[in-house]
Amino acid sequence: MKIAITGKGGVGKTTLSAVLSHLYSADGRTVIAVDADPDANLAAAFGLDKEQTKDLRPIAEMGQLIEERTGARPGSMGGVFKLNPRVDDIPQACSVKVGGGVPPHTSGSIRLLVMGKSKEAASGCYCPENVFLKRLLKHLVTERDDVVIVDMEAGIEHLTRGTAEGVDAFIVVVEPGRRSIQTALVVRDMSKTLGVENVFVVAGKVRSPADVEFITGLLEGMNYAGSVGFSQAVVEADIKGIPPYENAPETVKDIKKIKDFIESCIKRPGTIR
Ligand SMILES: Nc1ncnc2c1ncn2[C@@H]1O[C@H](COP(=O)(O)OP(=O)(O)O)[C@@H](O)[C@H]1O
Ligand SMILES: [Mg+2]
Repeated sequence: MKIAITGKGGVGKTTLSAVLSHLYSADGRTVIAVDADPDANLAAAFGLDKEQTKDLRPIAEMGQLIEERTGARPGSMGGVFKLNPRVDDIPQACSVKVGGGVPPHTSGSIRLLVMGKSKEAASGCYCPENVFLKRLLKHLVTERDDVVIVDMEAGIEHLTRGTAEGVDAFIVVVEPGRRSIQTALVVRDMSKTLGVENVFVVAGKVRSPADVEFITGLLEGMNYAGSVGFSQAVVEADIKGIPPYENAPETVKDIKKIKDFIESCIKRPGTIR
């Protein structure tokens, strides 16, 4: 299962990514949780502190590694470099393990990988770090047996077609509000360009049935996968630096329903609009 999560900032993408990772781990699966948002904070949603993340370096900042693998120095433009650098060892070598023993006891495992940001990569240039990050994401999505959950920024335009096609489910999280729904519509249109059908909308931080109605009324042909209710326990978890998975059972229940729904759609081809 490869899931990519997008949506406007602050809607609850990272919370959803962390809880989904825990749920798959509880299923006994090996999960690679990828923080692909330049404004990275997935580690915090796993409750990892400074000490636990001291070895976790964003891949984009690993200049020496990128140079070794691509044959070119990051920051350099033009020149000749390998377009297909080796990346299969990166998910193990450059990630940290997310603590086990979270109740209910997890039988699988989660590793967290942080992509990081490079100025060059952000501008979409054809430079070593961009080639390396893109190659790594494609590897994660198309060449691994693990469950891969990618916590992304708003929009999917930076994905290549080959990577997008390997994603089983794109989840766009929307809050009740027109701006966040606008982001979802942009993702829907972009996914058509990328040849992707399986876009799901999740309503985040909803406080009432009217919130859900507002969102579902504006979806225009997207698959509605369910909602995550506004939860004080999630806010508290964030303040205390503990995982929502541990502190917010209602939210975990909401997200489990979403997970089950998406899996049922994917198992029965033709159910996705
Ligand atoms: N269901 C929820 N109920 C209440 N607060 C939430 C919920 N989901 C997320 N939050 C809070 O909203 C803020 C943004 O959430 P986050 O998951 O980091 O969003 P994003 O990754 O989309 O920016 C955080 O402070 C988080 O604790
Ligand atoms: Mg986030």
